[in-house]
Amino acid sequence: MNTLESEDSFGLTVCHKFPVAIERGQGSMVWDENGKAYLDFTSGWGVTALGHAHPVVLNALNAQAAKIMQNPNSGFTYSPVRARLLSRLQQVLPGGLTRVFFANSGAEANDGAVKLARKITGRTTVIAVSGSFHGRTLGTLSLSGGRENAARYLPQVPGNLFAPFGDIAALENLMSDQVAAVILEPVQGEGGVRAQSGEYMKALEQCCRAHGALLIVDEVQTGFCRTGTFFAVDALGIAPDILTMGKGIASGFPFAAFAVTEAVAAGVAKGDHGGTYCGNPLGCAVADAVLEYLLDNSVADEVARKGGSLHTALRGLQQDYPEAIQEIRGKGLLFGLQLQSDEQVMNLTRLCLDRGLMVTPTRNAVLRLIPSLLVSDEEIAQALEILRGCLAQLQAEQRSDVAA
Ligand SMILES: Cc1ncc(COP(=O)(O)O)c(C=O)c1O
Repeated sequence: MNTLESEDSFGLTVCHKFPVAIERGQGSMVWDENGKAYLDFTSGWGVTALGHAHPVVLNALNAQAAKIMQNPNSGFTYSPVRARLLSRLQQVLPGGLTRVFFANSGAEANDGAVKLARKITGRTTVIAVSGSFHGRTLGTLSLSGGRENAARYLPQVPGNLFAPFGDIAALENLMSDQVAAVILEPVQGEGGVRAQSGEYMKALEQCCRAHGALLIVDEVQTGFCRTGTFFAVDALGIAPDILTMGKGIASGFPFAAFAVTEAVAAGVAKGDHGGTYCGNPLGCAVADAVLEYLLDNSVADEVARKGGSLHTALRGLQQDYPEAIQEIRGKGLLFGLQLQSDEQVMNLTRLCLDRGLMVTPTRNAVLRLIPSLLVSDEEIAQALEILRGCLAQLQAEQRSDVAA
């Protein structure tokens, strides 16, 4: 059996799969097992921040693996590398977020944040925003709006409410003294790269304060320089009570975290949370090395610069192909191209794949671009050229379908 047949026969297939078996990667490039090269503008769903096989990641992995991967009694014992990462995170976390807990995935970080918010406030209602995505555990799915997904696993975790995207008045109407927390993404990634405005976020912060509800900002996709600032909230001037992180935090090693204020930390008691692999030395070593690299190389500024020119170029594409691209959204190195239908997005994704560019089909007829933070200007130009060729082909195919 070949790779595709084996996976299809023995894997539990839970998603649409493209017929390509990726064997290795280097920087922004990946190669399939037949040797065909692709530009990776997905970063494994926004994870491989430093690209594939970056020496900083490899060295940290190797060095730490040779020392210790998992502490005796896990988190019951201290770890020098964990201590180092905790101190370094203090250089980048938004003011007031002084305590950090490590997790293994974004969903797990969000689950932990919501669980603690409920415990600390003694309240059960949590407000999320329609179109949100916070993960696939039962808890986070129940807070992920705009998907029929959650309804498949009835009963959902009770006590959750959804506010329409961007509508602060509607959220204020849902707010009460029963609300433990509001959880939201500053830019909805899976929801189609939709950014909340600064005014919305400020009004939301005030609304939470007025009712004693905690504000949980999910930066699993937007954190670690993705939008051109270290965290997306840095550009919004708000102070979350809890901020969750994942994906780019360790550039490919499964790792995540949530940071809380002293006030939140004061409500957490021993035994309230934990996990076998939480804060494992291997993950800490990689995250620490990634963080050091991002800081030493001013990666956030570079992302903002490259994102600016990518945005301009994408607008040019939109002008040339207005029938296909309705809107360009995003900043930094996280962009969404609003097309007309999910079918069109899948067709464009397949055409790009044929021509050696990997992009991410996203809900609500959006094609997402999330390259490595270290993608070069030349690679961006190459990706745009492929995209342009594919849009031309898509348009020609659509016109011939209409004519036929
Ligand atoms: C904003 C956001 N939160 C949470 C998650 C879930 O993270 P994970 O897949 O690591 O559980 C994702 C994943 O796409 C995400 O984009």
